[in-house]
Amino acid sequence: MKKLLCSLALLCAMSATAQREATITLHPEEGKNVISRHIYGQFAEHLGTCIYGGLWVGEDSAIPNTQGYRNDVLGALKELSIPNLRWPGGCFADEYHWMDGIGPRENRPRMVNNNWGGTVEDNSFGTHEFLNLCEILGCEPYVSMNVGSGSVEETAKWVEYMTAKDGPMAKLRKENGREEPWKVKYIGVGNESWGCGGNMRPEYYADLYRRYQTYCRDYNGNRLFKIASGASDYDYNWTEVLMRNAAGHMRGLSLHYYTVLTWSGSKGSALHFTDDDYYWCLGKCLGIEPVLKKHMEIMDRYDSRKRVGLMVDEWGTWWDEEPGTVRGHLFQQNTMRDAFVAALSFNVFHKYTDRIQMCNIAQIANVLQSMILTQGDKMVLTPTYYVFKMYKPHQDATFIPMDLTCDEMQVKNERYRPSRSDEEPTRTLPMLSATASKNSEGAIHISLANVDLKQKQEVVINLADIKGKKVTGEILTSKNVGDHNSFENPDVVKTTEFKGVKVTKDGLKVTLPAMSIVTLSIEN
Ligand code: AHR
Repeated sequence: MKKLLCSLALLCAMSATAQREATITLHPEEGKNVISRHIYGQFAEHLGTCIYGGLWVGEDSAIPNTQGYRNDVLGALKELSIPNLRWPGGCFADEYHWMDGIGPRENRPRMVNNNWGGTVEDNSFGTHEFLNLCEILGCEPYVSMNVGSGSVEETAKWVEYMTAKDGPMAKLRKENGREEPWKVKYIGVGNESWGCGGNMRPEYYADLYRRYQTYCRDYNGNRLFKIASGASDYDYNWTEVLMRNAAGHMRGLSLHYYTVLTWSGSKGSALHFTDDDYYWCLGKCLGIEPVLKKHMEIMDRYDSRKRVGLMVDEWGTWWDEEPGTVRGHLFQQNTMRDAFVAALSFNVFHKYTDRIQMCNIAQIANVLQSMILTQGDKMVLTPTYYVFKMYKPHQDATFIPMDLTCDEMQVKNERYRPSRSDEEPTRTLPMLSATASKNSEGAIHISLANVDLKQKQEVVINLADIKGKKVTGEILTSKNVGDHNSFENPDVVKTTEFKGVKVTKDGLKVTLPAMSIVTLSIEN
């Protein structure tokens, strides 16, 4: 018995000190594709408290605001250098009639938000409020048009209202207080047209897309970038039909992929989960890579020059709503697990930026995998927010190809069976995920994620010409994978300086703590 206890103690001691080893070889000279900053796009839908309460409180609110936008949220979002913001949906877009959201607010009609909890929408946040917000944030607007329940005329007039210098719609805009047209580049022609956007078949939607986009005109030198509503997950036929019938009329085709453990029944708690659930979730997250590849293979057949961008304009985790919050408002907490989903997703997106031109996480505040959570006048930044901040240096930098060898884990989970798919989550999970880029000043940034919850990882990074360079780092880690920032404890998970990197003669030696995400900067 004594002997057994001793061996157990030894095993425990060993696993406490055990570490994994990995090697990365970077090839900066082979880098040719730029990681578009639009990979870091955001999405704000009229859903729950994303807009109302999250971004917008109105000028008369006691919550400190600038022209009705929350000051705390504006400040936090500016730090992320948001490249674009998609609005007004989502499913909401296909029930939205833009003319209800212009003119004096007290005269704007109300509507029922049928998709999201039947909440009454007062239209106080409309076209002006959205486009002015984009100007304040310095980001490109991405406006989703209503194809499901709208009309071609309504769509055409909306584009004219936003972007024409003269004419009847420009006159109306000026009467509503905006003299100059806004700059609007990205428009989405419908959303999830196979589902909440009209339950269409791809052949029918392809024709409708061709028709609607015809009347979305370029006014006064504004050049629209038209995005067709694309597939969800494994619906390769949708991509095939759209590319075959309408590729010549579009600049982008969207794709939606959520890291969700199941679509039927409970999606699981955002806060309470097992280690197995965590690894399984990362497997599902990485399952996006083969899905992207298959959609891109189809696109390549019709568009070998890669003119049409694949726009992953909805992605991220989807958990059960937090207990006590409104059903249908999709308010979920955000832990270190979500931070890993963000990091791993970016590491995949970066590899395919010859085709992937935009991605939009769902959503910016208080909905699904948010950057920001608000409650009254309180605001917290989520672990996902910090990943976006740490990854900022990759925006518009040149992707650096790499060879990576690391340990792998076979993931399994009997609790969640995929339901909307013909594929299962990736079962072999690499214990290290990484990406690297070089910016226009020659600085190299390397992001590393040690997904192992228990073991640290020693990473050897081979990189020529390191001598004399300044190497710094930032780390996001915490005690437990379920750690999160709450309104009571807003600073549990946040980035700190990373000190576990050493310069060697051939590159770097990095010691990553268990469950950590690190970005290294190598500057001249
Ligand atoms: O992001 C929430 C919803 O998910 C969007 O409204 C819809 O497009 C998707 O199904």
